[in-house]
Amino acid sequence: MSMTLEQVKEKLAKYGQEHLLKYYDELSAEEKQALLVQIEATDMSVLDACHHREEIAQKGVITPLAAMQLDEIEAGREQFTAVGLEAIREGKVGAVLLAGGMGTRLGSDDPKGMYNVGLTRKLYIFECLINNLTDVVKQAGAWIHLFVMTSDKNHEATVKFLTEHDFFGYSKEHVHFFKQEMAAATDYNGKIYLEEKGKLSTSPNGNGGWFISLKRSGLLDVVKEEGIQWLNVFAVDNVLQRIADPCFVGATIQKNCVVGAKVVRKSAPDEKVGVMCLEDGRPSIVEYYELTDELMNAKDENGDPAYNFGVILNYLFRVEDLERMMSSLPLHIVEKKIPYLDENGQLVKPESPNGFKFENLVLDMIHQLDSCLPFEVVRNHEFAPIKNKTGIDSVESARALLVENGVIL
Ligand code: UTP
Repeated sequence: MSMTLEQVKEKLAKYGQEHLLKYYDELSAEEKQALLVQIEATDMSVLDACHHREEIAQKGVITPLAAMQLDEIEAGREQFTAVGLEAIREGKVGAVLLAGGMGTRLGSDDPKGMYNVGLTRKLYIFECLINNLTDVVKQAGAWIHLFVMTSDKNHEATVKFLTEHDFFGYSKEHVHFFKQEMAAATDYNGKIYLEEKGKLSTSPNGNGGWFISLKRSGLLDVVKEEGIQWLNVFAVDNVLQRIADPCFVGATIQKNCVVGAKVVRKSAPDEKVGVMCLEDGRPSIVEYYELTDELMNAKDENGDPAYNFGVILNYLFRVEDLERMMSSLPLHIVEKKIPYLDENGQLVKPESPNGFKFENLVLDMIHQLDSCLPFEVVRNHEFAPIKNKTGIDSVESARALLVENGVIL
């Protein structure tokens, strides 16, 4: 990094971000340097997009994409499982834990995976996930490489926590960490906030950043050296999910799809989940707020709702196809609560959204791939997301589901 103060000023002028040097003269030499480096590294070309949010969100023509449903899965279970287990034993399957998020809704400053869902004993979210993965390791009799994505904001805490807990019994040689990139956060006019006098306000660049970040970290080389051909990407919040599920892996392979997506039958037509579909003939996901009444009420040839299967952020990607994926992912401009310095240089933690974050989402990767198998799972057995403290998708609802599935809390 080598931009001079003059060059930094030019860059800021070009993007209308001169205010970022407001406190420059008050900083120590070290802080000055750090700020210049951060400004140089920040992609400001994307910021203007916040003025075109509606155009960017335009969708193509949506048509249904049939899911593999429970009866078909049951009929093929034995065979799918055998195929999946063989792939796992041959070391062809890896897992990617997306744990770079801020978990702001849960309201803890710690990484979300450190949250204790236990009642009579300690049972952390990370522990639940590793236990679920370990079930498959035992079934297959082979370790599965686990790649954990963190961000600048939670990397140290995550690594320290898992190390201190001895990876909850997992083989530490099979756990790899990598950090995702950060993106600047702005006010509603696209002006980047400062979170300290010498620091731009940034946040992780969305869960879709995982593949590029895996590559930049050098870990894609490990994937290749190890002969891993499939990566099961999953979110940190769903404590019930099955990871590297042999039946799911086998079904995706047997159906010749380049990506598999675990889905649940919607609980109501207006449930707030993204549903699988085709968009301009390619696999895609339409978000609940993009689902028109017409789509919501559309029926398939059996008379069932045509857009009835919601994604749960558990995807199996074929590595070869990810590497071929050339074009960059579309940007999602999301309203968020962003801590910032006010006019007097005081840090404010807002109670309601005050600006935009710029994110890439994993669901957009699906649209760049040729074929996708939506694979139905039983909601109460595999879907217990923890987004909030109480209410829907909360610690409370997840605890009830864990108990229902025989987990001692
Ligand atoms: P969410 O979309 O729920 O975001 O993440 P979040 O940041 O964790 O939570 P809130 O909205 O602030 O409350 C879904 C999954 O994607 C990961 C999260 O860790 C979670 O597993 N994620 C999200 C990342 O890895 N990086 C990101 O930049 C965003």
